[in-house]
Parts: sequence; structure tokens; C-alpha cells
Amino acid sequence: MKQKNSKGEALKFSGKWDLAPAPESTDHIEIKKEYQLFINGKFYKPSSGKYFPSINPANEKHLSMIAEANEKDVDRAVKAARKAFDGTWSKISAKERGKYIYRIARLIQEKARELAVIESLDGGKPIREARDIDVPIAAAHFFYYAGWTDKLKYAFPNQSPKAVGVAGQVIPWNFPLMMAAWKIAPALATGNTVVLKPAETTSLTALKLAEIIQEADLPPGVVNIVTGAGATGAAIVNHSDVDKIAFTGSTGVGKVIMKAIAGTEKKSTMELGGKAANIIFEDAPLDQAVEGVINGIYFNQGHVCCAGSRLFIQESVYDVVLRKLKDRIQALVLGDPLDKNTDIGAINSKEQLATINKYLKIGQKEGADMFQLSCDIPKKGFWCPPTLFTNVSQSHAIAKEEIFGPVLAVQTFRTIDEVITKANNTPFGLSAGVWTDKGSKIFNLTSQMRAGVVWANTYNKFDPTSPFGGYKESGHGREGGLHGLLPYLNI
Ligand code: NAI
Ligand code: MG
Repeated sequence: MKQKNSKGEALKFSGKWDLAPAPESTDHIEIKKEYQLFINGKFYKPSSGKYFPSINPANEKHLSMIAEANEKDVDRAVKAARKAFDGTWSKISAKERGKYIYRIARLIQEKARELAVIESLDGGKPIREARDIDVPIAAAHFFYYAGWTDKLKYAFPNQSPKAVGVAGQVIPWNFPLMMAAWKIAPALATGNTVVLKPAETTSLTALKLAEIIQEADLPPGVVNIVTGAGATGAAIVNHSDVDKIAFTGSTGVGKVIMKAIAGTEKKSTMELGGKAANIIFEDAPLDQAVEGVINGIYFNQGHVCCAGSRLFIQESVYDVVLRKLKDRIQALVLGDPLDKNTDIGAINSKEQLATINKYLKIGQKEGADMFQLSCDIPKKGFWCPPTLFTNVSQSHAIAKEEIFGPVLAVQTFRTIDEVITKANNTPFGLSAGVWTDKGSKIFNLTSQMRAGVVWANTYNKFDPTSPFGGYKESGHGREGGLHGLLPYLNI
């Protein structure tokens, strides 16, 4: 049977099964022709009059025009946030604050389908992920932090926690709505006001969230959402009346921001890059482990800071694990992100695809062996088939540097000490995974791994109650859980 995408265009899928097309409908969503800046509870045109396009990376079709905020607009947003902090948000009771946050959570749930489809269209991720991960976790974060609002004095007894003030937040394109929720929910719960900037390729769900915030009737200025690229982000970071910066993105930009705020009173949390190790011991449930590895690196096209991009397999099971892994890769379905059968969607942007392709070349040049899902690649859009490198050594760039794409570097090990040394041999320290039948091995390893999150016999599991964040060049500060309240409080 010929596979078709939601527009009825023929689209060949890879994979072993002949799956009937199952595209999610786009009838029920609204994308405006043009989006404005959300400041002080209203939508305003940018003072420069400039707009930039947002496209669908799966077919390069135009979606909408997005306002570009300059320093003047950012200043207006910060002033609105300050006024709301002084005038309303810090004056109303904690219980009242909580009600607003619950309202946002419920509205996200109500509009879940629309948000999931827009997330998939604007960023290229499979609808299954947007529907089952991004949107529910975004709602869960608002629910969870709404609950903390009136319990801060129990969370930090005898420490009289106080809101920091105006939080400036800059987020990336890999989990647009979810990252906005991770940033906004704890800030509001602790009594801060917010100026947030989404990434320039994926502004749409943050702007939908602005509409939700308006609908939830939050006092004007409590949340302001300004769109634009790096210069807009820099204007937030450098604004003298912002009290705290929360950033998720590249280690390079993280360093620029840390330099910019050095010597100021600004607090900061940085959630930066990663090069996580996923470790399979010979006693692991191998089929489950292979599934976890696939999920760890190919999930969201590898656009995940905690992606398990380095795989370490114990030598005795190397052949069998590799065979299973390759078989599983061959069965992955790459294609229309809106199709519910799709496992692998589009790469987020042309630039990101160029970066990934550069690493594929480097990997081969350095002498590693490349294996890829063989499938038809859609003619339009930005695509990279799931890729696996073997014959990789510790010194290879593909084993050291963050690629942020569906590219796995496989290495082997004999002993637990060897794999711990190898796994820790990285400037990053965000996450890791371990697969074994033995609890003692898990505890031995997790206590020696220098990573903020270590998953055992699972991977990429997120929950609002558990803190997330890195060591070393992966950043500082934690998001999620009780720990996630701290960066927004003076204690
Ligand atoms: P980026 O770090 O440039 O972008 C992230 C956010 O920062 C965006 O909203 C961007 O507009 C903003 N930004 C850029 N320059 C800024 C500045 N000087 N001041 C303030 N804000 C600024 O990431 P990019 O270029 O989109 O991706 C490059 C690489 O970064 C990827 O290949 C990947 O390795 C890594 N990355 C890591 C992420 C993570 O979750 N840890 C997320 C996105 C990218
Ligand atoms: Mg886009």
C-alpha cells in the first residue's frame, strides 16, 4: 500500500511492516498568520515592525510570521514584569497564586490535541511524542508546582523563603512547550514574574501558552513572552532589572551568558549540553536494554540534551547486542511527523542538519564504521536516518562532542572500573543509563558516575517531582522537584 502524508502526498516509509497511513488531523488547530509579542497581558506589534518566518521542518512549508523583539520591547516586557511583581503577584495570597497555576495546567490539558499537533508541525517531532510526552509533562509541571505555592514554608522550614523578583528565561527548540513549563511553573509558584523567550524555530506553542495565560486571566505582566533570536535573548540577559536568568541551550551560549552576568547580582541556572553514557552489562535483560538504547538516542531525533549518545556494551554480549540493535534500527519508521506510526521525525532546522551531517563525515573520516537505517528520505524537509557508529575510540570527535542528532557511538568494555572511567571521561555530566540485573552493580556505578541523572534499566524518564540538571559543562542548578524551587527563592 502506498503511504501518504496528511496532505495526501505519496510518502514512502521505511520499516518492515506495511503500515496504513494514520495522520493526525490538522482541522482542529488554529495557527495565526502573524504572532505578536505578549507583554503586560496583551499582544503588541514589535517596535521595529520586523517579523521572521516559522516553517515546518518536515516539508519546509511556511507556518506563520513571528514578531522580533528588540531591546526596547524587552525593556517594556521587563518593566511590565517588575510592575506586576511589585503591584499584584507579590501581594496576593499564595493560595490565589496557586489557583492561577492550576488553571493554566487544566487549560493545557483541554487544548492538548491542538498543542501536540502544533508542536509536531513547528518542530518536526513525531506526533506520538508531542502527544504522549511534551504536552502531558508540560501540564504535569504546572499541576505539580501549583501544589507547592502555599507550602513553601514547609518546603524550607524556618528559612522564610522570598521570591527573587523578575526571572528572565531563554529556552531551546527541542521541547518548546515542555521547556516553557519547566521554566514558568516553578517561577510563578515561588511568586516571581517572568519574561520568557522561546527559540526562533519553535515559537508557536509558547505563543499558544501566552493565549492560555491570557485565558486563565493571570494579572497583566506576570508572564511576558517575547520572541526573537539570539539578540533578543541577550537583551533579556543583559537587562539590569532582571534578577535571575534561567537558560537551557548550547554550552557555548551558556558560557557567553555566564560571562555577561558575572559581577552582577543576577542568580542563574544553566541547563546545557550532554554526552550521556548508556551502559549495558552482560547480565542485563538485553531486549529491554536495546529498546532503551533506541529510545535514549533516537527519541526526538536525538535533539535531547540527556540523549544516550555513547553506548558501552560489555564485550561478552557485544555481538548479540549489536545484531539486535541493527535489527531494531531497520524496523524504525521515518517519515511524516504527523503520522501516528512515525518513530523518527524531521531534524529541527537546516542548520542543525548541517551540524549532524558534519559529524557523520568526521566519524567516517576518523575511521569509525557507519550503519544507518536504509529508507526513502522525503524529498523536502530536513532528515537524518538513525545512525550507529562502531569501531569508535575514546578520542573520536563523535565520542566526545555533542552532536544533538540521531547518532550513536558504540564502544566496548570488560570491567566495571573500565566503563566508569570511560563513561566519566567527558567534559559533560548531565545523565547516564545503566542496564543490569544486579542492584549492587547499579548502586556501585551510580555512586561513581559524575552525572546529574542516572537511569537504571530505563532511559529518558521524566517526572515533575524529580530534579534534573548537570555537572561540569552540562550546567548548574536543578529543575523539577523541590530542588527546582530553590533557584527562584532567596533563602
Ligand atoms: P543556542 O544555545 O544558540 O539556542 C538556545 C536558545 O538561546 C535560543 O532561544 C536562542 O535564541 C538563544 N540564544 C542564542 N544566543 C544567545 C545569546 N547570546 N544570549 C541569550 N540567548 C541566546 O542553540 P542552537 O544554536 O539552536 O543549537 C546549537 C547546539 O546547541 C546544538 O547543536 C546542541 O548541541 C546544543 N543545544 C542544546 C540544548 C539543550 O537542551 N541542552 C538545546 C538546544 C541546543
Ligand atoms: Mg518551526
